[in-house]
Amino acid sequence: MRWFFLVLAIAVVATIYAIGPRGEKFSDPPFELFPDMDHQFKFRPQESSQFFADDQVAQKPVTGTVPLGYSLPHAGNDDDLGSDLAYSSGDSYFSTGQFGDFYGKGYPKEVTLDAALVKRGQERFQIFCTPCHGETGDGQGVVSKYWAIPPTANLIDARVSALPEGQIFSTITHGKGLMGPYNGVIPVKDRWAIVSYVKSLQKASGN
Ligand code: HEC
Repeated sequence: MRWFFLVLAIAVVATIYAIGPRGEKFSDPPFELFPDMDHQFKFRPQESSQFFADDQVAQKPVTGTVPLGYSLPHAGNDDDLGSDLAYSSGDSYFSTGQFGDFYGKGYPKEVTLDAALVKRGQERFQIFCTPCHGETGDGQGVVSKYWAIPPTANLIDARVSALPEGQIFSTITHGKGLMGPYNGVIPVKDRWAIVSYVKSLQKASGN
C-alpha cells in the first residue's frame, strides 16, 4: 500500500510538471491538450511571402475584375443609359425591346449596327450562349450532350429566325423556360450586340 501511494505521488507530481505549473515563465509554448484552431497555415495581410514576385501577401485585385461585394460603377443606373455598362430597367425600346406590348423590329437609336457591334456580339455570344446554343446557334452546345430533355432552342431554325430583334433582346433580358434572365449579367448595349450576332448567324444559315 505504501508503495502505491509513493508511485501515485510521483505520478501526480510528474503530471503537474508535464502540464506546466502556473506562474512561472517558460520560453517553450505551453503543452496544449486541445489546440483547436490556434495554429493555422495562413498568411496575415501585412506578412511577406516568396510566392508573389513582390514578396507581399496582400495583392491588388487583378485588373478588370470586380471583387465580391463591390458593384460596377454606373451599373444599373437609368441616368446612364448611354454608358456601355448600363443594365437599366427603363421602359424605352433600347432597354426593353418592346414598344408598349409589342416586340420591335430593328435596332434602337442608341446602338449602331456595324461590324464592331457584330464582333462584340460574337465575343459575348461565345461567352454566354454557346454552352447551350452551340457555336453556330444550332442548339448543339456542350449542355445538349448532358441535358437532352428539354433541348435548348435551335436559334437558326426558321421559327426563331423569324423573330424580331426586340423579341430576341427580350429573351436575353428575361430568359425563357429553362433559360435564365441575363438582365443583371449582360449590359443593355452588349445584349443588342448579341442580338446582331444571332441575326447574322441566322442569315449565314440561310434561314
Ligand atoms: C442554360 C442554357 C442556356 C443559355 C446559357 C442560353 N440559353 Fe437561350 N434558351 C435555352 C433554352 C432551354 C431555350 C428554350 C426555352 C423554351 O422555349 O422554353 C432557349 C431559348 C432561346 C431563344 C428562343 C426564344 C424563343 O422565343 O423561342 C433565344 C433567341 C435564345 N435562347 C437566345 C439566347 C442567347 C442570345 C443566349 C446568350 C445570351 C442564351 N440564349 C443563353 C437555354 C439557354
